[in-house]
Amino acid sequence: MQASVIARGALARFGVKPYPLGLTYEVTWLCNLACSYCDRHTPMARELTREQIFTALEEFYALGMRDVSLDGGEPLAHRCIREIVDWLVARRVTVAMNTNGILVPKRLDTIRKLSLVKISLDGPKVRHDAARGDGSFDDAIAGARAAQDVGVAVEFTCTVGRHNADVVEELLAITEPMRIPVVFQPALNSLFNGSDRDGTDWLLQADELRAVLARLEVLKREGRGIGNKWSSLRHFRNFPRETRPPCAAGWVFCTMDPEGILFPCGQLSRADRANSVIDLGVARAFQNLDRRGCGECWCARLVEENYLWGCRVDQMLPPLRAVAAAGLRSRPRAR
Ligand SMILES: C[S@@+](CC[C@H](N)C(=O)[O-])C[C@H]1O[C@@H](n2cnc3c(N)ncnc32)[C@H](O)[C@@H]1O
Ligand code: SF4
Ligand code: SF4
Repeated sequence: MQASVIARGALARFGVKPYPLGLTYEVTWLCNLACSYCDRHTPMARELTREQIFTALEEFYALGMRDVSLDGGEPLAHRCIREIVDWLVARRVTVAMNTNGILVPKRLDTIRKLSLVKISLDGPKVRHDAARGDGSFDDAIAGARAAQDVGVAVEFTCTVGRHNADVVEELLAITEPMRIPVVFQPALNSLFNGSDRDGTDWLLQADELRAVLARLEVLKREGRGIGNKWSSLRHFRNFPRETRPPCAAGWVFCTMDPEGILFPCGQLSRADRANSVIDLGVARAFQNLDRRGCGECWCARLVEENYLWGCRVDQMLPPLRAVAAAGLRSRPRAR
């Protein structure tokens, strides 16, 4: 990271002046899957045009954006994805991507330019496919191998719910020989769309989830292929109790949805649609962000970024005390 970026990050983090150094851009909500627990796989009504996308990116870049994570929906399904990645990389912006992996082998020209590919993998084939669609496990694995073959760093993301809570070790038995770490994070009822659907098929009870997370702590201590840093595992011990990390949202990073609505981070309600980078311009929309943080931060990578920017070294070290043994006795069974 350049010294100027670190200096800006420090100014931002310590409340002097916010900079959008990191942008998560949900390029499209279009997707080639319809995973059971996901409610973000239908394109939004007014997704940005090609011209609007590059106008917004240009403004973000002028304000200091140097790190982009492309998300979705499925970002590789967007018609301009190649152009977007090329544009960013040409300006030395670091680009990572969340993907289900299906299109990775077909888009290697784009994939090879990324700093990190994060592919969703929820368990062994039967469990993964049950939640994410027939054939999607093989596609995710093929995508991961294809990305590795072109020299790109790969991580798996495992969304932990009722469908896979009892098979995390089986999952690690698959991913460890591939030398790809798995970042685990809790399944939620909705990706902040305010939907009140019945999530009992995928949601664990809080104590069940904490038991899986406790198991992950033990496995991490044993040196298994857990990609979570200690800061997220420590933070998750409190799930779902309100727990405030040192929030960097709106100070150092922000999230833009496919219609150009800007949010402090991607883990907040999407109901208020007023903060549009198209109507207001990026600078004003960024200025408008609510920077108060919240107590419901349950996305592993976001949690880790918060503790990192907050310089909370204490939270980054392994906890002295192992998690309560009681937690380990109640490992849940998938239905
Ligand atoms: C919305 S997807 C977009 C990127 C890509 N399509 C993928 O599946 O990785 C990003 C991540 O959100 C996770 N996700 C989807 N629905 C979720 C939910 N209800 N709770 C928690 N995570 C969820 C997915 O499993 C995936 O790891
Ligand atoms: S989790 Fe990803 S792949 Fe699955 S439906 Fe949602 S956006 Fe699509
Ligand atoms: S979920 Fe809350 S605490 Fe976490 S980054 Fe977003 S606003 Fe901050």
